[in-house]
Amino acid sequence: MEAEGEIVTSLCVGEPDFPPPTCVLEAASQAMSAGQTRYTAVSGTIELRKAISDDLRVRKGISYNPVTEIVVGNGAKQCVYQGLLAACGSGDEVIIPAPYWPSYPEMALLVGATPIILETSVNDGYLINPQSLDECLKNHPKAKVLILCNPSNPTGGVHSTQLLEQIAKVLEKYPNIVILADEIYERLVYTDDGQCTAFASLPNMFHRTITLNGFSKSHAMTGFRLGYLAAPERYAKAASVLQGQITSCASSVSQAAGVAALREVDESWLVNNASIMKRKRDYVLEELSKIPYVVVSVPPDGAFYVLPDVSKYYNGDDTALCLDLLKEKKLALVPGESFGAPGTVRISYATSMEELEVAMTKLREFLEGLEVN
Ligand SMILES: Cc1ncc(COP(=O)(O)O)c(C=O)c1O
Repeated sequence: MEAEGEIVTSLCVGEPDFPPPTCVLEAASQAMSAGQTRYTAVSGTIELRKAISDDLRVRKGISYNPVTEIVVGNGAKQCVYQGLLAACGSGDEVIIPAPYWPSYPEMALLVGATPIILETSVNDGYLINPQSLDECLKNHPKAKVLILCNPSNPTGGVHSTQLLEQIAKVLEKYPNIVILADEIYERLVYTDDGQCTAFASLPNMFHRTITLNGFSKSHAMTGFRLGYLAAPERYAKAASVLQGQITSCASSVSQAAGVAALREVDESWLVNNASIMKRKRDYVLEELSKIPYVVVSVPPDGAFYVLPDVSKYYNGDDTALCLDLLKEKKLALVPGESFGAPGTVRISYATSMEELEVAMTKLREFLEGLEVN
């Protein structure tokens, strides 16, 4: 529609609307001028791996050996895939809590494993229910991996430390399960303390957790394609061997930028972005609360997504709703079906306040004109 000259309002994108910090951009151009334009070590430059290791130790209380336990890749997405390849394969099952990031089930299938969807409930804020997890693991002896996306895309839910401890307690009964902890949104948390506990930092969980993180969401560096996997050596080594045959290494220039992101960016820059995002979240929640029959049972505490239940409209057909919304109001949202959450829509509020105001007005006008079932 845009190519035909239409002006479309989109709340679909999964990337921050602010630019990366200036020092990151400068580090990238300095790296180019200084001739850092060649392949690096497969697992990443030692400078970046040390910076990641320091960051995880200082902020998260987890100690990874930068030489053997950290692998830098071309975005967290590649690292998730390599983590899965390292931990499971054909004949194994991967437990994926729903609503999920659509790449998880697809990646599980790509590695030859079977995705097993663990439903969560809107009343639990779409967080993992430890009892349901226990039940699911009991019923799936072939399960090898649990994916834990915390904070979650697409729900924005953040598992508290207490809930993570309860999940860890369940997992102690199933020692063969590897936890793939995707913590890429951990810098965008809106609770009072703004903290997101790293799963690997919980007692007895380090040796079986593969931590995924990156620079896309925290430092708005999506186009740099830079992410990492941190895990005990047996998994990190496997991921590195695989990467050596897939992409060799992440961009040398991006890696230099990544060092600046971790070593030079002031904490206040990150805190300020999180507080701007929180204001946008609050605005979207406020606007949604004004629309009858749109339900957000538990406000999301992290990332930059809201997944309201709109199942009263269109007999719960979220795809049809989104298509008509696009046609009639030129507002693009992602249907919940693609996240394993039928009857919902995903709103990304990582855009300007002006755009959000236009979008929320369009959504309200559209829904108010509809019949409900
Ligand atoms: C849950 C989750 N994990 C990982 C990624 C991948 O991020 P990147 O490959 O840009 O580092 C994304 C991006 O949308 C995401 O939402």
